[in-house]
Amino acid sequence: MFHTLQTQPADKILALMKMYKEDPREQKIDLGVGVYKDAEGNTPVMRAIKAAEQKLWTTQDSKSYVGLVGDPAFSDAMISLLLADALPRNAIAAAATPGGTGAVRQAFELIKMARPEARVFVSDPTWPNHLSILQYLDMEAVPYRYFDKTTGAVDHAGMIEDIAQAKAGDVVLLHGCCHNPTGANLNTVQWQDVIDTLLKTGAVPMIDIAYQGFGDGLEEDAQPTRRIVSAVPNCIIAASCSKNFGIYRERTGILILTHQEKTSIGLAQDTLAFLNRQNFSFPPDHGARLVTMILNDDALRQDWQDELEMVRRSMLELRTQLARTLRDVSGSDRFAFLAEHRGMFSRLGATPKQVELMREKYGVYMVGDSRINIAGLNAKTIPALAQAIVACEV
Ligand code: LMR
Repeated sequence: MFHTLQTQPADKILALMKMYKEDPREQKIDLGVGVYKDAEGNTPVMRAIKAAEQKLWTTQDSKSYVGLVGDPAFSDAMISLLLADALPRNAIAAAATPGGTGAVRQAFELIKMARPEARVFVSDPTWPNHLSILQYLDMEAVPYRYFDKTTGAVDHAGMIEDIAQAKAGDVVLLHGCCHNPTGANLNTVQWQDVIDTLLKTGAVPMIDIAYQGFGDGLEEDAQPTRRIVSAVPNCIIAASCSKNFGIYRERTGILILTHQEKTSIGLAQDTLAFLNRQNFSFPPDHGARLVTMILNDDALRQDWQDELEMVRRSMLELRTQLARTLRDVSGSDRFAFLAEHRGMFSRLGATPKQVELMREKYGVYMVGDSRINIAGLNAKTIPALAQAIVACEV
């Protein structure tokens, strides 16, 4: 039967990872996949994770199943991290998922179950896997303007005009913070315009938040999400612990549904359990358990927050250095927007040809749309990257 299979398009980010690995050049620079790296190029296990793992190893006495939506303590801890007290707990349904991508996939399936004709409005550009999963599920994606190429900032007027076209029951997919791939984010006033437009249209927001703590801080990055859930009748949130807890391979994420109507959230909660059962049965527990232990223990939580803040500041410092070096090398301010961006990524604004040239001639690996992973840089590679960017006439 397998001869009838068709070759599937390669994931651009993962294909780039492979190309980088196979490049024998020593001075190559990896700015591809969104994984944090320290100045030595390592992706360390965070101190609090190590400590929680050690504790878990000595105290855990069973590996039996937990529950279809995971441990309720994980849901409670994550809801509190993301939403604080924006809504009462009985207005929220949640299920643990295999990573943030698992939450995105389950969210799309839930949308399709609830409203088969719903269209999903996605930022142009967005994380490529959003589009790929929507296409796989045969769901309609409608792009909305997001990035202004000339300023490197959000095209706010264009965005509002486009999402105003959504109808009641359509879904508007938003990046909660640290937009991937552009690094350009909405300010407080602009978020309010988005909320007003959602209320006017009756479209349902879906927030993908995979980088809480990487932008302006753990609390600051959650503010737009908290404001949205307080304002709208229903919201869908897909959150990831891969980056802010550094547990990429443990596949730890959560899907959260909020609901301000009088009817019970029970039906939504049961549907989350049903969806998990159909797709993979029980969600992975190890990463979720570590996260729960950290969030519920004052000392571990403080240590985690301190390390996360150090990670955030180091990326911010790299951004500033890159913008400064580019100003010196190019003799212009055209890359100043890099210092304004937040999170792991920035879109440089290079053409696919220039991206290819940087890879072939200078061993600089970035995604084809010129997204760079800021954390892939260090004091040594910043000047090399700046030279390559200017030499390729970006
Ligand atoms: C990225 O955008 O690089 C990350 O979210 C990793 C991934 O799975 O694509």
